[in-house]
Amino acid sequence: MSTSSGNLPPTFDRADGHAVFPNTDHDETARLNFLTGLNVHIGRELSPGVRAAYEQRVRPSFAKTHGKDPSTATDVRKAMLDDPYYQQWAALRRSTQEASQQVSREVALRRVDTLSEAAKALNDGRNTLFLNLDVEIPSYQAAVDNHLMPGSYYTEAKPDDVTAAATYEVSLFPIGGASFGPKGDGGGRAMANFVRDRFPDLNPKRIVDMGGGIGGNTLPLAAAYPDAEIIVVDTAAPMLRYGHARAHDMGYENVNFVQGLAETVDLEPGSVDLIISVMFWHETSTKTVGEAMAHIHSLLAPGGVMLHLEQPNFDKDTPTFDRFMRDWDAYYNNEPFWTKLHTLDVFAAMQKAGFKKENLFDAGTEADIEPGRFQPWSTIVARHRHETKDLGKIGRQLSTLGGYKGERWWMFGAVK
Ligand SMILES: C[S@@+](CC[C@H](N)C(=O)[O-])C[C@H]1O[C@@H](n2cnc3c(N)ncnc32)[C@H](O)[C@@H]1O
Repeated sequence: MSTSSGNLPPTFDRADGHAVFPNTDHDETARLNFLTGLNVHIGRELSPGVRAAYEQRVRPSFAKTHGKDPSTATDVRKAMLDDPYYQQWAALRRSTQEASQQVSREVALRRVDTLSEAAKALNDGRNTLFLNLDVEIPSYQAAVDNHLMPGSYYTEAKPDDVTAAATYEVSLFPIGGASFGPKGDGGGRAMANFVRDRFPDLNPKRIVDMGGGIGGNTLPLAAAYPDAEIIVVDTAAPMLRYGHARAHDMGYENVNFVQGLAETVDLEPGSVDLIISVMFWHETSTKTVGEAMAHIHSLLAPGGVMLHLEQPNFDKDTPTFDRFMRDWDAYYNNEPFWTKLHTLDVFAAMQKAGFKKENLFDAGTEADIEPGRFQPWSTIVARHRHETKDLGKIGRQLSTLGGYKGERWWMFGAVK
């Protein structure tokens, strides 16, 4: 298979392992490599054909019948459903996602005992893992297996199970087309760069990552602020057990993993200097956005910062066709809150939570892959910090809130 650039993604065996990372065998690695490549191929080579099908067939036919172009993403979707190219593209995309998740789940389940033993060996005797099995999985999380990950984040195949987390970490590689870096931490690294550039005087003593999962994107912040106390909050015990063991195996002693809800986690009000989240909000609900933002506001110290990394929201200029494409995951990838979040006014939500309008900011960013790793792939899929030195300076002020263009990810936040 070749992509138009002539470059292929790195192979799965080039991901960085650790003591609880499943060591895949030849066939498992080959499957993951195939699926990584297939995902990239769909994104680069086949997805442009969906736009062509729309422009050349579906839109003209709609306009002929209705006397106008489709004006909403729902109109576009309904019109596209009968198009054979779209049907094949969507079926292939769905089955590639399902296969990526199923293979990752199988890789984890085959090692159910060895993985939990490895995690236990690193977790036992440490006072930085706080599980609370009374924490109730929120109804929105229990309702679906997000992005088709079998059993979601919280299912336990046995006591002390960590396979949900291993599934998650393995699956990030194929579903991200190897674009998150060898440790899957490209988002966290980009945020750490941004915080250092944008808030050079912030010297956080306590940092919290809401919905931090296995802490993959938390660790770059822990590395940037080695004297800070770091707290990963998540609902799902398997993610925390695995993340805690992973962090300790990687040499981090300043990271705590706490089972709790972002909207209620029991920390002292005003005690946190920096609160982050990565790809968290799109897997919650409108109610949780309001409650968790308000809780974050109460937890932050005066002058403290919150910063969230997410998929970009739509703005008034987002074309209808692009809205339809980006809503795909809500319909076919078990991401029920995806579309709602795309149109939610997060700036209004932040103000409702207590943040002042003049203290809000947003910025675009890309995954920051460790320099020298995943070459030449990383130069294709991401802009390197050393190549775009000003990346951290693009945090735009209120005058252009919500108006950034171009980057793959969106950061928004506020100073208390
Ligand atoms: C897409 S994952 C992102 C994990 C991590 N931030 C990362 O970058 O890899 C979303 C995480 O949010 C957690 N989660 C969902 N709702 C939550 C809530 N209300 N409070 C805390 N964690 C939650 C899930 O268990 C899951 O681990």
